[in-house]
Amino acid sequence: MSRLSTRTAIVTGAAKGIGAAIAKALGSEGAAVVVNYRQDASGAGRVVREITEKGGRAVAVQGDVSQSADVERVFAGARDAFGPVTVLVNNAGIATFEPLTAATAETLRAQVDTNVLGPLLTMQALAAQEDIDGASIINVSTAGTFSLPAYAGVYAATKSALEALTVVAAKELGPRGIRVNAIAPSPTDTEGVRAMGWIGTDLERASIANTPLGRTGTPDDYGPVAAFLASDDARWITGDVLLASGGQR
Ligand SMILES: NC(=O)c1ccc[n+]([C@@H]2O[C@H](COP(=O)([O-])OP(=O)(O)OC[C@H]3O[C@@H](n4cnc5c(N)ncnc54)[C@H](OP(=O)(O)O)[C@@H]3O)[C@@H](O)[C@H]2O)c1
Repeated sequence: MSRLSTRTAIVTGAAKGIGAAIAKALGSEGAAVVVNYRQDASGAGRVVREITEKGGRAVAVQGDVSQSADVERVFAGARDAFGPVTVLVNNAGIATFEPLTAATAETLRAQVDTNVLGPLLTMQALAAQEDIDGASIINVSTAGTFSLPAYAGVYAATKSALEALTVVAAKELGPRGIRVNAIAPSPTDTEGVRAMGWIGTDLERASIANTPLGRTGTPDDYGPVAAFLASDDARWITGDVLLASGGQR
């Protein structure tokens, strides 16, 4: 039996990038996976096909994590397809990189909505279920909360808030056997990062120079980390923020 074969997992924002890689890793270890997407239905369909073609179980469910009705629909879709949700990966996230002097209420609110409110709503939905002893929540933060680089102030603030929610949720949900951890990735070659035009720039070169393992991350670097945290192999780990960053901090 694979180590996640009794698990039903939701991975938010899993149509591409880090979320897609985590969804595929969980699926390959036996979890039934809900591939959540906001707009990219074809990307989500591709991820579902990649999982099911290898004998895994997966469905795509649309939903904006910052909307409580959407979160309810995603959880209902998971329960209808596979049963109670016992792994939740809060991967959906957005980032704006700009000087603090240029930040606006709109850019701050948008990042709070997706990076903080979204995970709060999904963690509440998971916790509202009964009999989910052994469940695991994994919040995707950023190594930027350690390095706090210039121009990442608002983004890092929202991810620091997510890490605070992680530690508090671990304390509140631990007595029910629910573990809550975060993964903090370093800069990673994803569609989102390519769209920012960051790959191949001096900023990428500086990031690599500050990374002991000497490269930019790839989405596949995080699948095994999430699968470990989702599994009973991590049964004694909760309230932790795990840097997965090639040593960058
Ligand atoms: N890439 C990096 O360098 C890096 C480094 C550290 C941390 N991270 C974190 O890792 C996570 C994934 O990053 P990535 O680079 O893989 O992202 P990406 O390529 O930009 O993809 C982001 C995904 O999130 C989804 N999404 C955004 N807002 C959403 C919402 N409100 N509800 C549901 N889904 C939503 C998007 O869905 P649609 O396309 O369907 O709209 C998209 O699939 C994020 O939390 C990010 O902050 C990334």
